[in-house]
Formats: sequence, structure tokens, C-alpha cells
Amino acid sequence: QYQRGYFMPPVSCMDWTKKEYVDKAPVWCSVDLRDGNQALVEPMSLEQKLEFFKLLVAVGFKEIEVGFPAASETEYEFLRTLIEKDMIPDDVTIQVLTQAREHIIKKTFEAVKGAPRAVVHVYNSTSLAQREQVFRKSKEEIKQIAVDGAKLLKELAEKEEGNFAFEYSPESFTGTEPEYALEVCNAVLDVWEPTADNKAIINLPATVEMSMPHVFASQVEYMSKNLHFRDNVVLSLHPHNDRGTGVADAELGLLAGADRIEGTLFGNGERTGNVDIITLAMNMYAQGVNPELDLSNMPKLAETFERLTKMKIHERHPYCGKLVFAAFSGSHQDAISKGMHYRVEKDPAHWTVPYLPINPEDVGRTYDSDVIRINSQSGKGGVAYVLEHNYGMIIPKKMREDLGYAVKDISDVQHKEIAPDEVLEIFEKRYKKFT
Ligand code: KIV
Ligand code: ZN
Repeated sequence: QYQRGYFMPPVSCMDWTKKEYVDKAPVWCSVDLRDGNQALVEPMSLEQKLEFFKLLVAVGFKEIEVGFPAASETEYEFLRTLIEKDMIPDDVTIQVLTQAREHIIKKTFEAVKGAPRAVVHVYNSTSLAQREQVFRKSKEEIKQIAVDGAKLLKELAEKEEGNFAFEYSPESFTGTEPEYALEVCNAVLDVWEPTADNKAIINLPATVEMSMPHVFASQVEYMSKNLHFRDNVVLSLHPHNDRGTGVADAELGLLAGADRIEGTLFGNGERTGNVDIITLAMNMYAQGVNPELDLSNMPKLAETFERLTKMKIHERHPYCGKLVFAAFSGSHQDAISKGMHYRVEKDPAHWTVPYLPINPEDVGRTYDSDVIRINSQSGKGGVAYVLEHNYGMIIPKKMREDLGYAVKDISDVQHKEIAPDEVLEIFEKRYKKFT
């Protein structure tokens, strides 16, 4: 098990298999400004962080991890600016991260002074690998670090004026024996004694993704069924994406009983990133579930993200890459075109158009430039669609075929995409004598 990296729960936990899909939005917590930022080649400046914070608020995040204020001067200053300039909206709670070490916890409380509301998120590593190789401490000693951290949080929160909630993460949860992770989390909860009015967050990080998603879901279900004070605990997940299955971890983890997801826009974050909240939210949207985030202007969101992080969003990134609604091939174009007509005539209320998982217009994309695109793979239907949608021209059936081949051949020879105005130009040249 050590070599494999993960541990199965001691009892079978597969109830999550009975559910088909995530039927309600979880509590979202953006960790862009902390986990996302700490993984950037050039971490964001204070001004960039402020702009990013406003973006997250505009998207609708109600919980935002703003940094690790004891770790860097910029993080500290950023947090102070948010608080002193009164920039935190009434319905938003900021979250700050701290290791379970006395001087770091104390500095974190200094940094967060005066915040209208804050989650103080404390963590320590619990995995077998970290216990043996990094800390060289026993299970008892590692548990004690968590308990001492939890006690200090409680003590400082009682002393300070403020509205504090607590979060604990058994960091490297995915490499921790589930029974032991449970023991540590329950020891922390026994210190905090959460109530209905003051819930505690237990966050299970796939710090490094180590298993297939169904294994992670079983671990989550085991924790969810056995945590103390479960009704007063918000069970949170923090999947990373090392195996490329962060989204699956989050989705199956929600089926398995989790209430909250920590992730980032476009999956930025350490190594292969944190779970991509955009994909998760849009997956819900595509299944008719309101994700309670406003992603209706994806191009603007993507532009701001790329400018502030200097990261590039992949052209095939689900729901937001430049090419994700594009159809070049003739058969796809034909099906989309027929599907669009069917929708208008028969079923305007439902989105069932083939090859398009959602209506691209719902995320601020347009049919003109984003969907039907013409190259050597395209067919007559695509070419006709471009003329109809861009220039209102409905061309006869026979001409469609002829023009389709002509455009296709030109694209093949020139080895490039043909823009709508070039399609028009080819049309005009070819049929000049008839016009
Ligand atoms: O990935 C991780 O384990 C973390 C913790 C600090 C929550 O980022
Ligand atoms: Zn992380």
C-alpha cells in the first residue's frame, strides 16, 4: 500500500455509486489567490491580487482563500489592504492559511485583525510518507501537532474580537491511512466542538492525486460517515490534478457526501493544478443544475485570468478554450446545423444540439466566429451556414455542393482555414457571371 501510495477505507464505502449526478451546487471556495498564486512563475503583485479578488467576487464566490499571510510580505499587505480599505463585500468570507505552528498561527491572527469574517485554515501533513521521511514523527506526535494547532486557534479566536470560523486540513490526506486521518480530524473536532451556528470545515486534500477517483470517493464517504459532529461540519475537498482526474475526484467526492469544493479558475495551482472550478460548475450547468456562479462572460474571464497570471488557457480547455465549440468537419457541421433548426422549430426550451454540450451563447461565445469554421475538412452545409449566418444569403442546393467543393479545395491547397469574408469572396468570384 505504501508503494501504491494510497489506502482503502477499512470498510466498504460505495454508497456514492447509487447517485447519478451532482444535483446541487457545493459551497465553492476559490484558492486562486493562495494555491494558484503560489504556483505561478511570477506570483501576482498586490494590485494584480486586488483585481483578481474583484473578479472572483464578480463571478460569485462567497468564500475566497486570500493567501498565507505569514508566508510573504505581499500576502500580508494584500490581506491588510482588503481589510483596511473595506473591500470585502458583506456576503463574502475571506480565508487565510496557516501551518499548525505557534508563531505562524499568531502572525496569521495579527494579519487577519479587523476582518469582518474570516475562516482560519490550519493544516499539517499526516501521510505515512511525510511522517516517516519529512517529520520523522509517530502518529501520536503528528496528531498532537494538529490538536495543539486547533487549541491555539480556538484560544486566539476567543481573545480577538472578530467573527472566526475554523478549517482543518490533514495535508497529504490521499497518502494517509483513512482510519488515522479520521482519528486526527476527530481529535481536532473534539477541540473545536462545532455547533449549528459555528460550523467547522474539515478539508480533505488530494494534495497529490494518488488513486483512481472511485478510491478517493470511497475515502471521502468513509470520512463523511464517521466524523464527529457531522451535522455541524462542512466537509470540503481540495483535489489536485496529478493524474488528470481532479474534476472526477471532486464530482465523485460530492456524491460521496462532501459539501464544499476548494479549487481554482481554469485549474491553476501547484504542479498539474488544483481542480478546475469552471469545468466543475459548467458540468453541473450542462446537466441542468444551477452552479451558482456567473460564467456568462467566459471570454472576459479568460482574458483577465491570462493577463493577471500570465498563464495560457489551452485551446481545448472544456467550456472555455478557443476551439471547444468549433466544428470543422462536414458531418459535424451538418448535424449542428440540423440540430439548430430542430431546436428553433420543435424544442426551443431544451438544448439538445448534437456535438455542442451547451449553447455557446450561454458563456458569451458566438456562432459566427466560434462554431462553424471552414477548412479542408468542411462540407457544403458548413459553407452554406457561413453565408447564411454572416451575410443572410440562402444559396440553392446545387450551388451549395459546387461551392462546398471549391472552398474545400482552396483550403486544401493553401493549407489554411477560410474566414467567412473569404468564403464570400470565393462565392462572388465563382458566380460573378450569374450575379
Ligand atoms: O494541497 C494541499 O494539501 C493544500 C493544503 C494546504 C490544503 O494546499
Ligand atoms: Zn493544494
